[in-house]
Amino acid sequence: MVFDSFIEGDINLSEERLKWAKEISHSSTKKILEKDERYFLHQALSTPCLDVLSSSNDSSIITLSGKKMFDFHGNSVHQLGYNNKYVLEKVIKQLNLLPFSPRRYTNEPAVALAEKLASLLPGDLNRSLFAPGGTLAIGMSMKLARLMTGNHRLVSMIDSFHGASIDAISAGGEEQFRRHMEPLLPGIIHISPPPSSTGSNAASEEVQLAYALRLEEIIEKEGGVGAFLSETIRNTDVQIPSIIYWKKIREICDRHGVLLILDEIPSALGRTGRMFAFEHYDIEPDILCLGKGFGAGLFPFAAMVTRDKFKETGSISLGHYTHEKSPIGCVAALSVIEFIQKENLLQKVNNDALWLENELGMLKLRFPVIGDVRGIGMLWAIELIKDSGQEGRLDTLAEKIMYNCMRRGLSFKVSKGNILQLSPPLTVTRGELSDALSILADAFAESC
Ligand SMILES: Cc1ncc(COP(=O)(O)O)c(C=O)c1O
Repeated sequence: MVFDSFIEGDINLSEERLKWAKEISHSSTKKILEKDERYFLHQALSTPCLDVLSSSNDSSIITLSGKKMFDFHGNSVHQLGYNNKYVLEKVIKQLNLLPFSPRRYTNEPAVALAEKLASLLPGDLNRSLFAPGGTLAIGMSMKLARLMTGNHRLVSMIDSFHGASIDAISAGGEEQFRRHMEPLLPGIIHISPPPSSTGSNAASEEVQLAYALRLEEIIEKEGGVGAFLSETIRNTDVQIPSIIYWKKIREICDRHGVLLILDEIPSALGRTGRMFAFEHYDIEPDILCLGKGFGAGLFPFAAMVTRDKFKETGSISLGHYTHEKSPIGCVAALSVIEFIQKENLLQKVNNDALWLENELGMLKLRFPVIGDVRGIGMLWAIELIKDSGQEGRLDTLAEKIMYNCMRRGLSFKVSKGNILQLSPPLTVTRGELSDALSILADAFAESC
């Protein structure tokens, strides 16, 4: 088993995981876990499951045995935490009114959501297509770029993730998803992502610029490139490019008529302290992909938003998904945006980020095994120094800390084997953040 390519999440077959599984003694939990293993197809990162969940509340998930854990992972769907009353009430009302809108019809929530997105986004980013999942939004964006530029080649990042379908794994670069899946889509060119511009390993502006210029070299030498696809800020291991990087990329795309597709499926809607992550960079994408928390954790929902000039695809269908204009998904998304605005959540996120940066900085001083702490808004990475005696990226210490946190009531995920990724709900209280950091510190003390 090759472990060093497990970038997206912690490993479900490691010794720490086996130890965790053996500790589960609650009989109903054991029965359900056994049935889960019996009836589900087993795949990497999913089976065996960690535990059985029975309910959720605000910042926490609650297991069948009654254990409550702060959820600082939430698959990036929980910007507003769990069971947000404002959203729930609106969605329940919609469920009773019109739960589904067959294709060829439209409905008020769908139009209101598309209008809302156009009002929030800059320039002429006024045209939406919705879909029941982020992967599908990525697929639609790849099709739109082919159609509008006449060029099928797409440049994306080595080690990136844009979803799990064949088109999305072709664009994505994670080996774990691509292995045994050939032939993938032709015409995808992977380039190295820029190193982070923040944190203790921050790269200089010259280095960031050199990474951007690599795109131009490829566009000029390879030819036929229609789009550049990237996350604005890499979610899984929290890589934050510099302004100079993104401005140069925008300039290169403009110069060569290449469409800039930004994947903000996990990072939009306040996660980084702005409604959209690209707002940190004073740039505009040509196509923006939204998802995850867009459906409020209630409905699988996503969007592709693009420019007015690409409004017409004639006889070509880019989406055509059954739940394309889901009134429930649209009400959920609208309510998320409304809640962020009416509660002034972006301001709260930015205040909490300053506090968190300080606290995590102190944790780093206390535990020399922490090589880097970096983050933005409610998205943070604690990167452990790799154990020099270990091959590859599997760092059992990160897992040990994670499981020790879960035993104490804090859930998050490990990415790349040595990065503890923390993405609490934007609605998390300062008290909860403080409790979570105490848990983290205790788990470090026990594990190191
Ligand atoms: C950056 C990024 N893009 C796309 C996707 C795919 O979204 P979905 O799983 O909703 O299809 C994900 C999911 O994890 C993601 O993290």
